[in-house]
Amino acid sequence: MTLPLVIGNWKMNMLASEACDMARSLVDRLSATEGAEVVVAPPFTSLYPVSQIVKGSRLGLAGQNFCSEKKGAYTGEVSIEMLKDVGCGYALIGHSERRQLFGETDEEVNKKVHLAMQMGITAVVCVGETQDQRKAGETLNVIETQLSGCLAGLSSESIAHLAIAYEPVWAIGTGSNATPDQAVEIHKFIRKFLFGSQGFSEEIGARILYGGSVTPENCKELLGEEEIDGALVGGASLNFESFCAIIKSSLES
Ligand code: 13P
Repeated sequence: MTLPLVIGNWKMNMLASEACDMARSLVDRLSATEGAEVVVAPPFTSLYPVSQIVKGSRLGLAGQNFCSEKKGAYTGEVSIEMLKDVGCGYALIGHSERRQLFGETDEEVNKKVHLAMQMGITAVVCVGETQDQRKAGETLNVIETQLSGCLAGLSSESIAHLAIAYEPVWAIGTGSNATPDQAVEIHKFIRKFLFGSQGFSEEIGARILYGGSVTPENCKELLGEEEIDGALVGGASLNFESFCAIIKSSLES
């Protein structure tokens, strides 16, 4: 049985001292809890200090983004090797905020996925439709286009280092989460894509997470679904007790 994966995406929140306090509290709490793979994705400036706190603990570290080039004259960018160097075992790739606000394309996401795999870093690839796309009945097409573009050229073995996060754009930061039925429909579709049309090995597996207004109140029924292997949590991961409640639910489900 694969452990549930719960990732806290702190986005552009928390100063380094706050991120360190939160990481310390999580490390303490996790040492007293069984199971669940728990990861936090602080802003770049907090990665190094937080890495010193999570070292040797059960709390994993993720970058929220990185450059699609390996190294060189790319002012303002951070490379995958730099993420690895500060102890990241995971990286979020293609979050809808990166796509919508910073113009990230499926091609760039694909380059990043390959770089992460080469580094042995687990790539958490985000996909999801907008409200308009859902209303127009285009959800499955959108997800399929994103998946085929983002995962092009991956080998079956590499998916051991892959997680897909289904994050409907209309559910992110809006307080209105997808219903378990809505999420399950898309998770099944993603699974079919990975292990059916793409021919990836189901035995190696790749976890499929749900993200979008996950809270302590709704996580039980979402994470209770067999199709949902974990959660990518934004707002609720900024509050220690809320995030811990979500981690606890993931274990009970
Ligand atoms: P919220 O949980 O705040 O809706 O954010 C979801 C998200 O974007 C996680 O990556």
